[in-house]
Amino acid sequence: MNIHDSEKMIGLLSESGYSAIANPENADLIIFNTCAIRAKAEQKFYSQLGRVKILKRKNKNLKIAVAGCVAQDARERIFQKAPFVDYIFGPQNIHKINDLLSKNQDIATEENRDIAFEEFTARRQSNIKAWVSIMYGCNNFCSYCIVPYTRGREISRPSSSIISEIKDLARQGYQEVTLLGQNVNSYRSDIGFVDLLKQIDAFAINRIRFVTSHPRDFSVDLIHALSKLQSLCGHIHLPLQSGSDSILKSMNRGYTYKEYIKGIELLRNRMPNIAITTDIIVGFPGETDEDYLYTVKALKEIEFDGIFAFKYSKRKGTKAFEMSGQITDHIKSERLTYILSLQEEITYKKNKELEESVQEVLIEGPSQTDTLMLSGRTRSNKIVTIPNSSEVTGSLIPVRILKARRHSLDGINAALETALTSE
Ligand code: 5AD
Ligand code: SF4
Repeated sequence: MNIHDSEKMIGLLSESGYSAIANPENADLIIFNTCAIRAKAEQKFYSQLGRVKILKRKNKNLKIAVAGCVAQDARERIFQKAPFVDYIFGPQNIHKINDLLSKNQDIATEENRDIAFEEFTARRQSNIKAWVSIMYGCNNFCSYCIVPYTRGREISRPSSSIISEIKDLARQGYQEVTLLGQNVNSYRSDIGFVDLLKQIDAFAINRIRFVTSHPRDFSVDLIHALSKLQSLCGHIHLPLQSGSDSILKSMNRGYTYKEYIKGIELLRNRMPNIAITTDIIVGFPGETDEDYLYTVKALKEIEFDGIFAFKYSKRKGTKAFEMSGQITDHIKSERLTYILSLQEEITYKKNKELEESVQEVLIEGPSQTDTLMLSGRTRSNKIVTIPNSSEVTGSLIPVRILKARRHSLDGINAALETALTSE
């Protein structure tokens, strides 16, 4: 979400003559687009902020802006901590960026629902894959989470505006679009989420994805759409957070483990090959060994294709901040380490099941680890590496999977293989 917010900012700034550059030493403006989801992200920002102070001494015209969720959360406190900062603006005030920069020093952190009606011309990093916001904010108030406080109340973009953005991306030749929202299932403007998906499916975009789905709002209609609509990719990210009902309750997640499993079963009955990924938090206040073991059990039972697992991080202003039974960092680390190693094995096993299958891969460019290889993703969002036989970046090719690795798959262009063997 932050990456796409940055793309929007760069789009807006290009209207007033700015362009993005690689080296901060040559910049006239540096924007920190910050994340406050866990304390670590916030600390990282503050240590980087300290470093640009020196650049300001060298270049008197340099302006420093702090955007994103830390800006929204800390507001004026950032000016107090770092008086060399010129601008502070939150995620709901991105569209005000050019107005803000015309002032000497300013702050924009008020709740701004207009953002949902803004037509951004984002400067996208990729010309193959695009992020598209469909809604802003979150109403869920999971007890650990700072997002509802920094990104504000949920509001959906009008469907006509989303559709015209996607039509335009199709015209430009984008192959993949990921619809973005904190809780996409509760998208509601003139139409609901499933109807929005149906309309988007009609355009010439090969791959449509969406993040993030909330298990509580996961509907049979959506499962039906996933199995029927051609452009929708066979992957869903469905954050479980914990396998323990009492922890889920104190997290205010609004579902039990049994209800979550029911959704998974429905999904897999309809689409046996669907990839399912999740988010897990360990060490939430009050998490006993028994609660934690329920999460371990859940991972073994469900066998996710991949997980993002985090140590619970206290965020001021959230309900969980005040809760008793805070867990020591030592226990959190132990729990996280075990969960990650368990999941490594499960992911590897899942990847192994794909050996010898043929997968459609969207070629994204040279592999980061070996420039003689190309890298891309399957519809299930798994990374695949193939030998570079001059496949065009942005093309969709059939790939036979030769070997599973822990974090990726090795394959070969199946069309080329067939052509060679029939010669
Ligand atoms: N501590 C740890 N993880 C968190 N997440 C959100 N808030 C916190 C927190 N305070 C995780 C959740 C969410 C993901 C985006 O970040 O798992 O799904
Ligand atoms: Fe945070 Fe919960 Fe909203 Fe996700 S659904 S952004 S975890 S409050």
